[in-house]
Amino acid sequence: MLNLKAEIQRLKKEANAVILAHNYQLEEVQEVSDFIGDSFYLSKIAATTKHDVIVFCGVHFMAETAKLLSPEKVVLLPEKDAGCPMADMVTADGLRKLKLEHPGVPVVCYVNSSAEVKSESDICCTSSNAVNIVVSLDSEKVIFVPDEHLGDYIAKKIPDKQLILWKGHCITHAKVKPEEVKKIRQLHPDAELLIHPECSPEVVKLGDFVGSTSDIIRHAEQSDAKSFIIGTEIGVVSTLKASLPNKKFYLMHPGLVCPNMKKTRVQSVYEALRDHKYEINVAEDIALKARNTLQRMLEIG
Ligand code: 13P
Ligand code: SF4
Repeated sequence: MLNLKAEIQRLKKEANAVILAHNYQLEEVQEVSDFIGDSFYLSKIAATTKHDVIVFCGVHFMAETAKLLSPEKVVLLPEKDAGCPMADMVTADGLRKLKLEHPGVPVVCYVNSSAEVKSESDICCTSSNAVNIVVSLDSEKVIFVPDEHLGDYIAKKIPDKQLILWKGHCITHAKVKPEEVKKIRQLHPDAELLIHPECSPEVVKLGDFVGSTSDIIRHAEQSDAKSFIIGTEIGVVSTLKASLPNKKFYLMHPGLVCPNMKKTRVQSVYEALRDHKYEINVAEDIALKARNTLQRMLEIG
């Protein structure tokens, strides 16, 4: 029988490839990856890697972002249907219409968006730098697309700015109801509640800490607390259980499983390297503008 892990190592060397995996990826995928992290960390790695090929274990917008930042590299997404429903909730056409209603107002797009939407935006952000990015803009009004929950979180942090929000959301995080969170808190009264800002404002309000997937992992590592309720996708719980065996982790809600992130298996990573699939490309006219939007974000950090 084929030893997939050994084959992946061999093919990786042969192609001078690097494997990046998001924090939500299955353990078997993280095990064969070179870098694991949140969207911001992985985009920085993609922008600076010296490898010829990037295998991106995540969803489509992440691989597309890697291609925009490293246009001379081959970028492969192992599962071609691994998309992000939130990213699909805003189109470039829709954004152009909104911009016409608010002339001159700068646009911040969440990295969970298509290259075309990025090309219509002024600057990008991720969940780890969203507040800083909006603060950096010299404008009282700011258009924010597509996540209205992250937008609401930013708006509350910076009350002197007026955010015009697109009505998109993550179908995985948005399904959690505040009553359900209150119930799990009662079951684990000593646990710290760590929440991703893609959850609804009513849920985010209940959290002890709000941050990106890697911020949540870092917080759990550094906190003196012994138990935690994790308010983001189940992949973060698996990582924390494995790396911090002396602490307890509970998933905030059983529905916190992103089906798109779970499409990639170790077999898909092997086939991606073996067959050079699925290659991500972006039309050059869109790529030029979208790249600027991402680079402006990286300059701010
Ligand atoms: P992070 O940037 O926090 O890893 O989030 C990406 C994402 O899609 C969360 O649902
Ligand atoms: Fe998209 Fe939500 Fe999945 Fe993140 S968890 S990739 S926002 S669908």
